[in-house]
Amino acid sequence: MQIALAPMEGLVDDILRDVLTRVGGVDWCVTEFIRVNDRLLPPTYFRKFAPELAHGSRTRAGTPMRLQLLGSDPACLAENAALACVLGAPVIDLNFGCPAKTVNRSRGGAVLLKEPQLLHAIVREVRRAVPAGIPVTAKMRLGYDSPDGAIDCARALADGGASQIVVHARTKMDGYKPPAHWEWIARVQEAVNIEVYANGEIWSVDDWRRCRAICGAENIMLGRGLISRPDLARQIAAARKGLDLQPMGWSELLPLLQDFWRQSRRKMAPQYAPGRLKQWLALLTRNYPEATALFAQVRGERDCIKLDALLGVERVMNAENGLPVRADQARAEIGTEAALAS
Ligand SMILES: Cc1cc2nc3c(=O)[nH]c(=O)nc-3n(C[C@H](O)[C@H](O)[C@H](O)COP(=O)(O)O)c2cc1C
Repeated sequence: MQIALAPMEGLVDDILRDVLTRVGGVDWCVTEFIRVNDRLLPPTYFRKFAPELAHGSRTRAGTPMRLQLLGSDPACLAENAALACVLGAPVIDLNFGCPAKTVNRSRGGAVLLKEPQLLHAIVREVRRAVPAGIPVTAKMRLGYDSPDGAIDCARALADGGASQIVVHARTKMDGYKPPAHWEWIARVQEAVNIEVYANGEIWSVDDWRRCRAICGAENIMLGRGLISRPDLARQIAAARKGLDLQPMGWSELLPLLQDFWRQSRRKMAPQYAPGRLKQWLALLTRNYPEATALFAQVRGERDCIKLDALLGVERVMNAENGLPVRADQARAEIGTEAALAS
């Protein structure tokens, strides 16, 4: 049984991949989608979305990372996939599930599920372009507005050369509304000879049990469930062995949240870091009353220094000049250099 951490654009970046895979139970993770239009992307672009490329394509915990591409031009996707492999990507994953209007309008993501022949051509060209030892995998929804074409799409991907498929068991039109139609995962698995991963609406160990009973899938991918309950993969892996683990408490989670904040502060411009923190915290409120209380405090706050204090994190110092990050902001607020050094 393999458990994967889902790719989530704007949410599961290298920092969250680092923090979540350290909790345990995750066998592999995926970058956010990297969008390919009509040109070869520069290596810096790949490294920005996948800093793990510089570390053997593994997170700090040693969890392997795959690189996901999104686009509709088979030749261009193939060229970019080949470059990603040269840069160290160990697996190329292709996105056929994104429901975003802007992405679908430019013929990317879930809209391609209307064109199984194109799915086939994309996987075939990417497969041809990357070294034989590098697997090409795909992530699909059940269809655009109906699941009726799901089997054709899955077959097109498998025949094109995909070695695994993750099925997010909803159509594009379903968006993220529950339920996920897990029964379709079993139908897809019956139709293809490659591994199929079940994805969608697994928020708890009980959900996983129900999903497995309905679709029979041993392999799963966890998205929002794992972000809102960071030990979900660990719990499921234990449950599968018949063990009953104590759920992660707030005292174990808070240091992870603090580390996430420190890393976000170092990496992101101060206007963006608070948004990331609030996104994760908002999902944690589903399972942790302490997160609800903290979220109420941070919700309207955009000042990173005040957020440091609310999270109980010492001020984040810049490694090069020893000043707090966003020293200008601190200076304006506190007034003196002496206060800054305190
Ligand atoms: C904010 C957000 C961003 C997402 N970004 C991606 C993405 O970049 N690539 C992808 O294949 N799926 C993406 N997805 C879909 C998830 O990987 C997953 O299929 C979906 O959330 C269903 O799983 P869940 O119910 O466990 O969350 C995204 C979902 C969300 C909510």
